[in-house]
Amino acid sequence: MGKDIDLQGKVALITGGGQGIGKGIAKVLGECGATVVVSDINPDTTAATAAELGAKALPLNVADQTAFNAAIDQIVAEQGSLDILVNNAGVYREYGGAIETITPEMWRTLWSVNVDGVFFGCQAAARVMVAAGNGGRIINIASTQAVSPGVGVTYDGSKAAVVQITRTLALELGRHNITVNAVAPGATWVNPGDPPPIDSTAPIPRSGQPLGDAVASRIARIPAGRWAVPEDIGNSVAFVASPLASYINGVYLNVDGGWLTE
Ligand SMILES: NC(=O)c1ccc[n+]([C@@H]2O[C@H](COP(=O)([O-])OP(=O)(O)OC[C@H]3O[C@@H](n4cnc5c(N)ncnc54)[C@H](O)[C@@H]3O)[C@@H](O)[C@H]2O)c1
Repeated sequence: MGKDIDLQGKVALITGGGQGIGKGIAKVLGECGATVVVSDINPDTTAATAAELGAKALPLNVADQTAFNAAIDQIVAEQGSLDILVNNAGVYREYGGAIETITPEMWRTLWSVNVDGVFFGCQAAARVMVAAGNGGRIINIASTQAVSPGVGVTYDGSKAAVVQITRTLALELGRHNITVNAVAPGATWVNPGDPPPIDSTAPIPRSGQPLGDAVASRIARIPAGRWAVPEDIGNSVAFVASPLASYINGVYLNVDGGWLTE
């Protein structure tokens, strides 16, 4: 076991796990002993990441409710249970920006992944977890933008919705020993290439565009003095998924190096 947290015997599904934060979460949960199912809309990164981590691969578009239900049924049939669901899949790069630039298609596409996808996942997981009667963990990846706007109304609004969905379901599912919590990454470096810059004005990688001036200008003000890396988020998810967190339910957990204390 590579980590101190023990998740042996637990089956975990991570959506959007082909790269970035989801890949970091999958890596850490696997190191803690969980049986990990890596899932992504991109079948190539799903397969590559699963192979790299020694995990199972299951391509899935979280915006497709029928497919999400089928995926969870398949995991229960093949692995015997679903104990941990991490709703990590999310989009932002192409959908942020000033309100006058946002088309109905941008709005609907982002919400179909970031909000519909979380709802579909929570509903499907609750269905099998309640039926199994062994409790469970649902962890929704929100964002500091849920409470501190900066990327644009599409994204910030979607992440605020994720936080309140989390709270409502914590209330509903707690009596089944299912906890539902939101982990909120701060600025997280997801470019596997270069080391993260400390330069506060550096654009977010890969898109070639800043996520927004408000985000960029805050990088230099992270008390930790660095960007997060996916494993930082994975470590936090592992704790929330573990027996150590059995009395933590409905929280919004910032994992931002102190960013929101500014
Ligand atoms: N990187 C950050 O700074 C940051 C900060 C706060 C929150 N987040 C959140 O963390 C999560 C992961 O972000 P990331 O930075 O790793 O992004 P990323 O783009 O590197 O990875 C997201 C993954 O989700 C997949 N995906 C996209 N649409 C999907 C769909 N419909 N169904 C299934 N998979 C889909 C992509 O293929 C990709 O592999 C997102 O929810 C994001 O909003 C990221």
